[in-house]
Amino acid sequence: MKRLKQHAIWGQRGSFILAATGSAVGLGNIWKFPYITGENGGGAFVLMYLVCIALIGIPIMMAEIMLGRRGRANPATTMLNISQELGVSRFWSVIGWMGVLAGFLILSYYTVIAGWTLEYFERATHGGFRGLNGDTSNALFSEFLADPARLIFWQSLFMAMTVLVLAFGVNKGLETAIRWMMPLLFVLLIVLLGYAYSSGEFATSLRFMFSFNPEDLSWEAALVALGHAFFTLSLGMGAIMAYGSYMPSTASIGKTVIVVACLDTLVALMAGVAIFAFVFATPGISPSSGPGLMFVTLPVAFGNMAVGTIVGAAFFLMVILAAWSSTISILEPAVAYVTERFGLHRITACVFIGATAWALGLGSVLSFNHWADVQILWGKNFFDSMDFISTNMLLPLGGFLMAIYVGWVMTREQAEHEFRHDSVGLLKVWRFVLRYLSPIAVLAVLINGIFPLLTTVFSE
Ligand code: TRP
Repeated sequence: MKRLKQHAIWGQRGSFILAATGSAVGLGNIWKFPYITGENGGGAFVLMYLVCIALIGIPIMMAEIMLGRRGRANPATTMLNISQELGVSRFWSVIGWMGVLAGFLILSYYTVIAGWTLEYFERATHGGFRGLNGDTSNALFSEFLADPARLIFWQSLFMAMTVLVLAFGVNKGLETAIRWMMPLLFVLLIVLLGYAYSSGEFATSLRFMFSFNPEDLSWEAALVALGHAFFTLSLGMGAIMAYGSYMPSTASIGKTVIVVACLDTLVALMAGVAIFAFVFATPGISPSSGPGLMFVTLPVAFGNMAVGTIVGAAFFLMVILAAWSSTISILEPAVAYVTERFGLHRITACVFIGATAWALGLGSVLSFNHWADVQILWGKNFFDSMDFISTNMLLPLGGFLMAIYVGWVMTREQAEHEFRHDSVGLLKVWRFVLRYLSPIAVLAVLINGIFPLLTTVFSE
């Protein structure tokens, strides 16, 4: 009852699409997608990512929403309730439990990067990008990263913003913000694309992103593409399940999912094309610059634009809001779980989990300066390791278990009960893909992507 009351705040029509899009569109689209595309060579990676969205992301998103709407509780309880109802093993609540862990790890580093957007918003409002070129922008960013106190300040602020909203419920302010934020983010991306077209290396960018080079295909890149498909759609950890539990029974799940997935993909592709157009036009910036790519590239573009201060400030403000509506959905399942499982008050739970994730996030902060050379997993630093464990291992595993559960443990009638408002044809395709293609694809990529890493550990 408590949760229903809390979520009833998203009371207006279309709230689910809004909340799900708010969760899906975030740093994953604007910051992460371009930088991992750059690190993995471009076109072939983009293609693998699109295949993962279509074959794995969309069907599993439908399954995850369906489970949430049917269970109408936090992810772990949802899985337990449905399993009891169906008379199958309690083991399946592991999906919810693993999701809580994944969300916790993701939140820890996501708030660190979200903190960078706060710093860059502040710089933009002071005209701090004026006249930057590739080298000075790189220097500015390195200087920022070398200052852990500053990183921690912004990380703490972002965590506090997240905890605040969740502790007091999703307030009117944020709902209103998201309502105008999505269209404005779109408009700003179009402005950015237009500017990239007129002054960047637009054609080179398109070629980089959409020309397919077979030698760039690898299991390692496939694993990153798969993980990112889950990450960008907020799948595999119960966030979408938690939101689905507040979805009205009359809404069509299939249509909703397709709208959310298309919007999410569009934002990512637009951000990617714009960013790479500037990357190729700016000496001193390489596509494979890693996590700093957006923070080094865009300031140069804004700094040389006629009304760059305003466009730059507006852009970073949109990224802040997009990230904020995502961190909320990352924290929500853990909060719901802890309040139910341990009977903690909602505010206590938010503060407790937020503080713990914050402490873990300090490791990511340090991995950009003092701990830059400290390797945790397979030569990866702390930040990359957290990201790898959560995004590339836990989310696909969670998604795989959901596909097996809905496709094989539930009967056809049970699985399709929530889809009264979807077409029979769509359901046929959905069930086939979910039963065969999605789980096999996830498993193939997980095994081929992770197994080589495991064997290097043993042979060391
Ligand atoms: N999808 C968001 C993004 O692209 C991040 C996110 C929100 C997320 N909720 C999630 C990732 C749940 C994984 C799981 O920025």
